[in-house]
Amino acid sequence: IGSKKVTPYLLYCVSTAVIGSLQFGYNTGVINAPEQKLRNFFQNVSMERTGEPFSKEATTMVWSFAVAIFSVGGMIGSFSVGNMVNTFGRRKSMLIVNVLALLGGGMMGLSSLSRSYEMVIIGRLIIGLFCGLCTGLTPMYVGEISPTTVRGAFGTLHQLGVVIGILVAQIFGLESLLGSDALWPVLLALTILPAILQTIMLPFCPESPRYLLIVLKQEEEARQALVRLRGCEDVDDDIQEMKEEGMKMAMEKKVTVLELFRSPNYRQPIVIAIILQLSQQLSGINAVFYYSTGIFKTAGVTQPIYATIGAGVVNTVFTVVSLFLVERAGRRTLHLIGLAGMAISALIMTISLALKTNDSLSYLAIVGVFAFVASFEMGPGPIPWFIVAELFSQGPRPAAMAVSGCSNWTANFLVGLGFPKLEELCGPYVFLIFMVLLILFFIFTYLKVPETKGRTFDDIAQGFAAKPTQSSAPEEVVVNPPASPEPAPMSPTEK
Ligand code: GLC
Repeated sequence: IGSKKVTPYLLYCVSTAVIGSLQFGYNTGVINAPEQKLRNFFQNVSMERTGEPFSKEATTMVWSFAVAIFSVGGMIGSFSVGNMVNTFGRRKSMLIVNVLALLGGGMMGLSSLSRSYEMVIIGRLIIGLFCGLCTGLTPMYVGEISPTTVRGAFGTLHQLGVVIGILVAQIFGLESLLGSDALWPVLLALTILPAILQTIMLPFCPESPRYLLIVLKQEEEARQALVRLRGCEDVDDDIQEMKEEGMKMAMEKKVTVLELFRSPNYRQPIVIAIILQLSQQLSGINAVFYYSTGIFKTAGVTQPIYATIGAGVVNTVFTVVSLFLVERAGRRTLHLIGLAGMAISALIMTISLALKTNDSLSYLAIVGVFAFVASFEMGPGPIPWFIVAELFSQGPRPAAMAVSGCSNWTANFLVGLGFPKLEELCGPYVFLIFMVLLILFFIFTYLKVPETKGRTFDDIAQGFAAKPTQSSAPEEVVVNPPASPEPAPMSPTEK
């Protein structure tokens, strides 16, 4: 079913799209290292303007604002993704959003010259908007142009882009590179370069054939795009599969956010999509990525910065591992393994933080954090981003990406803002909160999430379709459709 060939041209198009993922990762990671330099800058500007430096509290407020407003932008951007792709299509949307990267990056880059910390804050907001849009656009485009057999692996490339972006930001942020007093504006403005690169590359990529055929009804254009992507003339199977998907949704067309929750066909997948996204963020991953240096310091690690970069490396390596496993083990299994591994690692971290009476326990903290990050990238990192595109057919997909992406960003915002307070309240036991949440998400995934590996979008959507004959018990829609025979080999190993 469908052409399986991975052509160089397909790889070119996927690589072009995941520049957006790289941007998201880079801007997530970039603010961590230059914290002190930015604080100094805020103080100096205040001094120049009023003759007095900011109080410590005022500096912290401006700083927290600059950090958090990125996620607020992300929430708005991710929610706008549905309207945007319905208006401009996939490819043109990816092209347009780069304007935001130029604008936001430019503002942050010129903030020091202009002696304006407001420009840092507004720049972060715009970059947040940009990244929110990227987290919807990239997985959607990649999911739609990929052949079914490698859709999961290609979907994981989005996360690979993210983690490489984070790692690059961590490294460039070193004081000896761009994290210095003089160069931090360059560090923040660097996001402009990938935006220019993607703008040059995108015109050579086709519009998503699914969008052309199912939404615009341009069969000839869709066929041409497919011939190029698949590298062969015979794309009838793909066209046929899309037509079937298009026919079934002919009655629905564009689906609004409200309809997603009203229609019994969509209610179950949208709940699954949202909870998977929440499982990614409420796992506590960004407590580690935003605050790892502090965590390592508390645990008595002597070179916390390098432990943080170590975490970035582990993060990247395990995303590659997941890339190779996701079409074999399947999404559901990997997500379960990842959640279980994270729960165990959270326990290890708690032990090391609570009992840090001797040196060897500081190593335990490093082991705990690395295992936490590695487990995350097995499933909870990559899978939620791309599985949403798989759980829905063409009509409801944009709205579903918007709702679930916005849930992700909202949870990201809450963890980023709330973690320092939680840590103050719970001390070394703070990761037990995430452990409990992880166990709950494990149970949910075990009971409710179907396997989507190797199935067409249409087949997956059918699995959720409310059966017209069974009027009773609408909640009990088929969860594990017959198309996936393997009976969930994981036994719950957490605790
Ligand atoms: C995922 C998350 C992001 C996190 C990253 C870490 O992409 O969405 O918030 O920082 O993984 O690798």
